[in-house]
Amino acid sequence: MRNQIVAGNWKMNNNTPETELLLNNLIKYKIRNGVSVYIAPAFTQLYQSVIKLKGKDIKVAAQNVNAEVSGAHTGEVSCSMIKGVGVSTVILGHSERRSLYSESNNFLKEKVITAIESGMEIIFCFGEELSERKENKHFDLVKNQLTKALFHLPNDTWNQIILAYEPVWAIGTGETASPEQAQEMHAFVRQQIEYKYDASLANSVSILYGGSVKPSNAKEIFSMADVDGGLIGGASLNAEEFIAIVNAF
Ligand code: 13P
Repeated sequence: MRNQIVAGNWKMNNNTPETELLLNNLIKYKIRNGVSVYIAPAFTQLYQSVIKLKGKDIKVAAQNVNAEVSGAHTGEVSCSMIKGVGVSTVILGHSERRSLYSESNNFLKEKVITAIESGMEIIFCFGEELSERKENKHFDLVKNQLTKALFHLPNDTWNQIILAYEPVWAIGTGETASPEQAQEMHAFVRQQIEYKYDASLANSVSILYGGSVKPSNAKEIFSMADVDGGLIGGASLNAEEFIAIVNAF
């Protein structure tokens, strides 16, 4: 059985007191057995979160990392810096980084290589814009994103990869993909992995859905055969809502 995962991407929200408050609220709840739960705060809140969540069933992830190991990259953060504060998972390929910070598939490939070589786990995001779906280009687009950024990886590194399908038109809009649309894309992705690698690898990779997941729609989305959990934005900023999503399996 594949790992069931719910990850909260806090984006550029929660300063130190706000993080303290949200973490205090989160740790009041019991996490459902068998579900791996992550939160991804800003870099400046990683250490605070790691300390606060020590011994709890919630892991901490970073939202980004630089492709270089060290050096003259003012304002950037390396894998070893992230690992040094006790974090070994990173989100890469988020649509906001692709669109707002021009991160291309080839650029992401470099980040993926560095993160894998550093022994990090990657939550790799991909997904199409509304215009691409309307033109029926979404499968080709996703295939291209995965091929360029991930399909160079050797078979034995895929245990460090979690995939997250986030159709851009569903992020922060209140409009989710229907469970059928999510299932259709997740099955397509699994099939591409099988073509490139093999069926056993394809069946072992967890694929999360992200885009306006709420307590009210999580159960239906998570019930789809190839959906193994969610990457949650807005609803992860509220402990009660986030835990309700975690418990929606
Ligand atoms: P929302 O849940 O706010 O739509 O955000 C999804 C997302 O971008 C998670 O990475």
